[in-house]
Amino acid sequence: MTPLRSGGSVPGVVEADDLGTYVVKFTGSAQGRKALVAEVVVGELARALGLRFPELVLVHFDPEIADGEPHQEVRDLHRASAGLNLGMDYLPGAQDFTPEVAARCTVDPLEAGRIVWLDALTVNVDRTVHSSNLMIWPTLGVAPPRLWLIDHGAALVFHHRWDGADPTKAYDFRHHALGRYTPDTRAADAELAPRVTEELLRRIVAEVPDAWLAGEPGLATPALIREAYVDHLHARVRASAAWLPTDFPSGEELAAEEARRAAKTQQGRPSWLKRVPDLHGKPAAEQDWSVHLG
Ligand SMILES: Nc1ncnc2c1ncn2[C@@H]1O[C@H](COP(=O)(O)OP(=O)(O)OP(=O)(O)O)[C@@H](O)[C@H]1O
Ligand SMILES: [Mg+2]
Repeated sequence: MTPLRSGGSVPGVVEADDLGTYVVKFTGSAQGRKALVAEVVVGELARALGLRFPELVLVHFDPEIADGEPHQEVRDLHRASAGLNLGMDYLPGAQDFTPEVAARCTVDPLEAGRIVWLDALTVNVDRTVHSSNLMIWPTLGVAPPRLWLIDHGAALVFHHRWDGADPTKAYDFRHHALGRYTPDTRAADAELAPRVTEELLRRIVAEVPDAWLAGEPGLATPALIREAYVDHLHARVRASAAWLPTDFPSGEELAAEEARRAAKTQQGRPSWLKRVPDLHGKPAAEQDWSVHLG
């Protein structure tokens, strides 16, 4: 139906022949197949642990659809994506959890703790205040909006270099999108760690199509690659004491840190650049036009 140009991988909103509407991530995108593997593994783990995450489907995509696409870049992406792609149920009317939305929301510390815990376990580097990959939905009608997780393509960073994968590696949580809600990560760890069993992990990695699990040096078959995911995540969950995020910086501490960074950037600028709006801590897309008006 339309390309989602706000996403780095240019996913498409697609109507499928089951009449469902899905956000489809394409195998031909620059992020590659590993991003889709991470989407399946982390998303299904989130769901198994009781977090809200839209339904995933495998989508057979016919690249002929690209013939009607006016943008060359999107056309190339579609042409490179014949066969199986990944679809996520489209949440109509959902809103991105931006800092502006976050400022008028409250999030339960245990819910925040569970999400931070999942991100730390799966080393998700893309759930920051600048790019939360969280949505609130529904936003129309009488039901209260709730937090939904999306976009786990940047999680499981260890699968880009298996030989250096360290299950005890610390997780950088300082700019996590939910840090301001005093996440109760200790309660989340006590509740969730025992639930991430080898059996659960095996069931989840079995959902990843073989075609996305090929070409891994030293791991000759999809079965061996699946075992590597299970072993690493199981070792990591048992090592939670080594990576459990605690001691989140307060809002004031983060603001002070941002202000210091902004001042340093300003200092390094020539005088003719000093009036350029400072984007420290703000969304990259310009929203405050007042800087140009007076
Ligand atoms: N299931 C969904 N329902 C409604 N809107 C969605 C859904 N999934 C994604 N979106 C919208 O599309 C945007 C891009 O999606 P997503 O973050 O998954 O793509 P991406 O290409 O991985 O992005 P990036 O790498 O830039 O973060 C989201 O910020 C959100 O606004
Ligand atoms: Mg995203």
